[in-house]
Amino acid sequence: MNAHELTRHFKKLFGDEPRIFRAPGRVNLIGEHTDYNDGFVMPAAVGFSTYVAIAARADRKLGIRSEEFPGDFAFDVDHLPETRLGTWCDYVLGVASVLGQRGAKLRGANVLVHGEVPLAAGLSSSAALEVASALALISIGEIELPLPAVAKLCQQAENVFVGARVGIMDQFVSCMGKAGHALLLDCRSLEFQFVPLPAGIRLVVCNTMVKHDLATGAYNRRREECEQAVRCFAQWDPAIGALRDVSVELLNEHGHDLPVTIWKRCSHVVHENQRTLQVADSLRQGDLARVGELMRQSHDSLRDLYEVSCRELDIMVDVAQDLPGFVGGRMTGGGFGGCTVNLVREAAAQGFATQIAERYQQKTGIKPQVYLCTAEDGARELT
Ligand code: GLA
Repeated sequence: MNAHELTRHFKKLFGDEPRIFRAPGRVNLIGEHTDYNDGFVMPAAVGFSTYVAIAARADRKLGIRSEEFPGDFAFDVDHLPETRLGTWCDYVLGVASVLGQRGAKLRGANVLVHGEVPLAAGLSSSAALEVASALALISIGEIELPLPAVAKLCQQAENVFVGARVGIMDQFVSCMGKAGHALLLDCRSLEFQFVPLPAGIRLVVCNTMVKHDLATGAYNRRREECEQAVRCFAQWDPAIGALRDVSVELLNEHGHDLPVTIWKRCSHVVHENQRTLQVADSLRQGDLARVGELMRQSHDSLRDLYEVSCRELDIMVDVAQDLPGFVGGRMTGGGFGGCTVNLVREAAAQGFATQIAERYQQKTGIKPQVYLCTAEDGARELT
């Protein structure tokens, strides 16, 4: 599907010439479960995108349809639902609803969505849909909003309207990603730097094809555990407002005063923040061996301390280790299934993809999908 086909389909359905907005999915190189702890993350936008075609209507109706999913939704822009309907259209509606609550003058419009980000794979198909929808709705409403503010708006839609307490990482990189670069983001200040990915390295994303049911509940539970940890640390040091503020020294000093589970969660977050900054430095210095070590440590910590990996992810990470061209790999995203991200030397990437798929299938009986990716630009209007 290209922009031309989407335009043709839109015109056939609604008669008007649309404007088209594209927003990418992402992989996270390192910094997992740190964003909602005010910490550091380092994702990259990838080539899978969601496209939203939009044209204003003369009346106050908001019509929403998808090329992939059933449903022909219609709402009154002056009386949008305030909570989720439980369908894919919540991500579009959530954005419209939050814009409306903020006093934006929404217009009636027809919206047609086309998504290419693999679903339930931990590659942020929801953030891509939110961001593309936000840019589309903003464009016809003549609302001025810089991209970082668009990212926050989309996060709020997901937190408040959809009901998933996600951090800012996915929406931010979908808005702000840059081709050939990872984005090192301070999730507290939203200051960021682009870190060039070394020449001759490919991002190989391996989809385990499993998504375990506990994902959403366990995600929210991890957040609560982190909040509990912050309350404990604040007793010992009132300056602690988030796990971002806990140093390795403070963690070690109070390790024994914390319930074991809470200690494990903190220990992951505190060290993961450090690893993320170290990976950024090591990439800049071209020290790929160190990058590989840190990615492996990140995976082990997510498996043993944060406990968000699963058998299939662990197998995918293990079978990569001695393949030709492999630099480093780990689970990526929220966990409990989805994908691993691997840095692989370009010349070996195709062979790596074939061999990892064979090995994974041998051990699990599941045929994985493997995507050879590059870091891409963030969301844009297509012209
Ligand atoms: C999901 C969330 C992100 C982040 C990751 C874990 O992708 O949407 O905000 O918390 O999990 O790092």
